[in-house]
Amino acid sequence: MTNSTQHELTLVLNGTGKTGRRVAERLAGRGVPVRVASRSAETRFDWTDETTWPAALDGVRAVYLAYAPDLAVPGAPKAIAAFCEAAVEAGVRRLVLLSGRGESEAEVCEDIVRGCGTDWTIVRAAWFFQNFTESDFAGYVRAGHLALPVGDVPEPFVDADDIADVAVAALTEDGHRGRLYELTGPRALTFAEAMGEISELTGSEVGYGTLTPDEFTAALEGAGVPAEEVAFLAYLFTTLFDGRNERPADGVRRALGREPRDFRDFVREAAARGAWTA
Ligand SMILES: NC(=O)c1ccc[n+]([C@@H]2O[C@H](COP(=O)([O-])OP(=O)(O)OC[C@H]3O[C@@H](n4cnc5c(N)ncnc54)[C@H](OP(=O)(O)O)[C@@H]3O)[C@@H](O)[C@H]2O)c1
Repeated sequence: MTNSTQHELTLVLNGTGKTGRRVAERLAGRGVPVRVASRSAETRFDWTDETTWPAALDGVRAVYLAYAPDLAVPGAPKAIAAFCEAAVEAGVRRLVLLSGRGESEAEVCEDIVRGCGTDWTIVRAAWFFQNFTESDFAGYVRAGHLALPVGDVPEPFVDADDIADVAVAALTEDGHRGRLYELTGPRALTFAEAMGEISELTGSEVGYGTLTPDEFTAALEGAGVPAEEVAFLAYLFTTLFDGRNERPADGVRRALGREPRDFRDFVREAAARGAWTA
């Protein structure tokens, strides 16, 4: 495939996050000029403050469009529509949207991106492996016990490195225009099975417990999590983990011509670099 946008400035939103950071590193490695943006990045970009958008978009031709906190929260479609309009006006020609599997609210945002008049690619991802190493969940894994309101529902967890590889291909190569890639790992695992594999490969027992939705909400409230976030997390775990997303998809192979990374390989590598060592 040809590299058609190699010398054009690319804006990476959520640029300090799990996928954005990886996308930015890969683009820089390919010699693509990158502008990393978030509330704390050198280029300040805040989804809740449109006055920060024009400077971030100035001179940009392609955007890795990752929303925060999640495309399923109220207000996301409005923000995505306003951003797409601003992006087109600024001369952006290519948008690569990070979306989530099984979220009808996210699909509303996907439709907005499809209709905004630029080239587009959608990467619709499963639950990231890196939630177990780079988010609040990492602390629970490290402490030896994770508890969520999810029972024996398997999830085909996916590697954020695979997501970044697909996003970068879509941002820099031809052939991904107008494509929707469902990105998952090769196997679906329950949270209990995932903790079992971490236990086996680290040699330290990590237990898993299933909470009722009320127990989960009470635990978050007790830990001082803001009400809005509690409501979103409760929705996420009690609505999305009903089996709708359990089937692995072939997006990594379709986009890159290779298989996605397996959870065991991720765990082995994370354990070797001490990701769960206190
Ligand atoms: N995690 C998953 O398993 C998963 C799965 C599928 C899809 N997704 C999608 O991935 C996106 C977020 O991923 P994540 O939850 O894993 O977090 P993340 O990308 O690891 O971290 C959030 C990023 O967004 C930035 N951010 C937070 N609030 C912002 C705001 N108001 N304006 C601009 N930037 C902001 C943060 O940087 P600053 O703090 O510096 O602003 C950080 O770079 C969401 O759109 C979600 O739907 C996640």
